[in-house]
Amino acid sequence: MTLETPIVAPAMQLDRRADFPILQQQVRGQRLVYLDNGATTQKPGVVIEAERDFYEKSNANIHRGVHWLSQHSTDLYDNSREIAQAFLHAERVEEIVFTSGTTEGINLVAATWGRKHIQAGDEIILTMLEHHSNIVPWQLLAEEKGAVIKVVPILENGELDIEAYRGLLSDRTKFVGLVHVSNALGTINPVKEMTAMAHEVGAVVLIDGAQAVAHKVVDVKDLDCDFYVFSGHKIFGPTGTGVLYGKYKLLDAMPPWKGGGDMIHTVSFSGSTYAPVPQRFEAGTPNIAGVIVLARALQYVQEVGLEAIAAHENALLEYATALLAEMPGISIVGTAEHKAGVLSFLVKDIHPHDLGTILDMDGVAIRAGHHCAMPLMTHLGIPGTARASFALYNSFEDVDALASSLKKAQKLFGV
Ligand code: ALA
Repeated sequence: MTLETPIVAPAMQLDRRADFPILQQQVRGQRLVYLDNGATTQKPGVVIEAERDFYEKSNANIHRGVHWLSQHSTDLYDNSREIAQAFLHAERVEEIVFTSGTTEGINLVAATWGRKHIQAGDEIILTMLEHHSNIVPWQLLAEEKGAVIKVVPILENGELDIEAYRGLLSDRTKFVGLVHVSNALGTINPVKEMTAMAHEVGAVVLIDGAQAVAHKVVDVKDLDCDFYVFSGHKIFGPTGTGVLYGKYKLLDAMPPWKGGGDMIHTVSFSGSTYAPVPQRFEAGTPNIAGVIVLARALQYVQEVGLEAIAAHENALLEYATALLAEMPGISIVGTAEHKAGVLSFLVKDIHPHDLGTILDMDGVAIRAGHHCAMPLMTHLGIPGTARASFALYNSFEDVDALASSLKKAQKLFGV
């Protein structure tokens, strides 16, 4: 890019900022530029209203009462499962388990499928791009069982080394844990191809979709993955909600994890029998309001359209990448060919945390640090990065604000 060809923002195709009440406020006297969507997303008015609506009109415990309100609440909860099923294109509604988030979904699989099937000497394959939540549960399991963890390395641009992955797969491989979109670098991994490769050696595959579902269409039937997990709060829904998708045959054969009400068939002091899936994995009173509101968030995303969202975020990423690439002293970390709207970068002589603090003075919210991906940062030889992550409500104006605030920071530091 030369000075003769200035970088111009394309015309906006998607303008949804007005849907989000929180974005209407000023922060530190400035227009709020929220670029920390990888950490959590903001909630549209329709989602906030759905929560209020539930508590004003529908609140009762589910699967228990004979009264109207309980049946009504149960219907809303059960309908949410159908909405999640359709969202992920799952074959059966029983394949959807509601959880408190991605972390709980992965821990559930490790503690049930993993404890039942992983034995001493078995190999578990993870990738260098995994978030801690898709590393630590498998380390705990591997320690307990004497299993071995193997790690798929990355290429210099932040893509997974697929040939190295091929080399790691063998008949000892029992499980593969893959992140769909890297929260730290934005790399979109070829999870469909990697799943097929794992299946060739008979391994079971879990995909961490936390950073994918709000940004691209996910079709679990097409991916043919065995498990897929995501968090509600990263897709415009409430914190403390999430979805675990599992192929029916696998879920049905998994032992229970948390014990309590609603997950049983019969209970006696001589022993208990358990409910079919998915109830088997939803012990106790679940996050009823959260699940119903999450379903509203999934509907909102479908109303906007995931193809349109992906195209919009891609345009934002391209524009931001071009702007930052021409700024002296800035290096982009993660330059994979296929990336979601995540831009990690370093500014020479400014620590990411200082950068985050300075940008905040301009109302620009980014994340700075290791992004819960310490093995990746260690591999890259850096303590962390500054990260701007986009969502459907971001605009080219937001990207301009990021670039101008970065210039101010460089001036302030004299770099
Ligand atoms: N995993 C979240 C992030 O990437 C918290 O920021």
